[in-house]
Amino acid sequence: MPGLTAPSDYAEEPPRHPALKINSKEPFNAEPHRSALVTSYITPVDFFYKRNHGPIPKVEDLSRYSVHISGLVNKPIQLSMADIWALPKYNVTATLQCAGNRRTAMSKVRKVRGVGWDISALGNATWGGAKLSDVLELVGIAKLSSVTSLGGKHVEFVSVDKCKEEKGGPYTASIPLKQATDPDADVLLAYEMNGEVLNRDHGYPLRVVVPGVIGARSVKWLDSINIIEEECQGFFTQKDYKMFPPTVDWDNIDWSTRRPQMDFPVQSAICTLEDVDVIKEGKARIAGYALSGGGRGIERVDISVDGGKTWVEARRYQKDNVPYVSDGPQSDKWAWVLFEATLDIPANAEIVAKAVDSAANVQPENVEDIWNLRGILNTSWHRIKIQNSSCVGRSKL
Ligand code: MTE
Repeated sequence: MPGLTAPSDYAEEPPRHPALKINSKEPFNAEPHRSALVTSYITPVDFFYKRNHGPIPKVEDLSRYSVHISGLVNKPIQLSMADIWALPKYNVTATLQCAGNRRTAMSKVRKVRGVGWDISALGNATWGGAKLSDVLELVGIAKLSSVTSLGGKHVEFVSVDKCKEEKGGPYTASIPLKQATDPDADVLLAYEMNGEVLNRDHGYPLRVVVPGVIGARSVKWLDSINIIEEECQGFFTQKDYKMFPPTVDWDNIDWSTRRPQMDFPVQSAICTLEDVDVIKEGKARIAGYALSGGGRGIERVDISVDGGKTWVEARRYQKDNVPYVSDGPQSDKWAWVLFEATLDIPANAEIVAKAVDSAANVQPENVEDIWNLRGILNTSWHRIKIQNSSCVGRSKL
């Protein structure tokens, strides 16, 4: 692609904030410390998790960059950044979450394959860009189409990065045409993140943002868009990011039996404490995040200090001075909800968080029940074990 190139080694990686916890250096995968996540509703770009499968591409000359849109369409086109900027601009606040978030905890049950992540493989940003539904109109696909006149039913995004899993080929993913052409699905071709030009780590100059869906479908460094009949046949759609039952292992796996994961399930985690922590008996503020896929709001977050025997409801919030109402018109439907509760913490407490979404889906109690060989979608109750501070002689309060 003229304008945007993909290095084959890691000599020209962008600078990153030193506070990030690096889970893999090459490719670069890193997350902020969990306590940093709940200090703001919008995650600063520096502290937004970074999930890559190869070296970070580089823009050589933005004026030579363009996105090619073709496949099962009547009039393929090439769009420059100027063409994209000329379309109506939307700002959508949406949380991106990697399907591997909380994988490290799942790997403690039984070994799983994949980069280990604590609870911070997610972040909430305001993405600025053009709606994909507007872009697709330029190739003659009307809003709310499920199929094109030539039989296209899926929209494939192709990047330029060189991924080992694709034997040096680019990262790809697809979403159904129906979602891509629905203006209310808010799928963006984003060129801004939190009001700034997208940076290299997050997909400069242009990335896809698919709200409410696992991060894997939000392709960075967009090179081309193909309208295709079947879903994308690439590694990351067909041989990864699928949820298998606990009985499937690497000897009996048949990837074709499962659908690629799209929406993420209801999730929550406590960010103010480590999984094993020490606090004084008495009052403590427990805070964290909750979110659900598909635009479903968070109806409730329950907190227990006795391992799940009794529960109290936490306060939920998003923006200052706007009371959060699940699925309410003033709420950001694609964004996480932060929660807090100040509770009496008994000695040797087990603090647990579980969220309920607006479809009354509840997080599963035990990670064992949802264990899967790729370690994706660990949405089990988040449990914190408190050690009695008098035994350890140190306090957090
Ligand atoms: N797009 C490309 N081109 N290459 C990638 O490695 N990783 C995907 C997705 N898009 C990826 C990609 C995954 S798995 C996730 S979770 C998100 O990007 C992470 O986006 P972020 O690094 O901006 O947080």
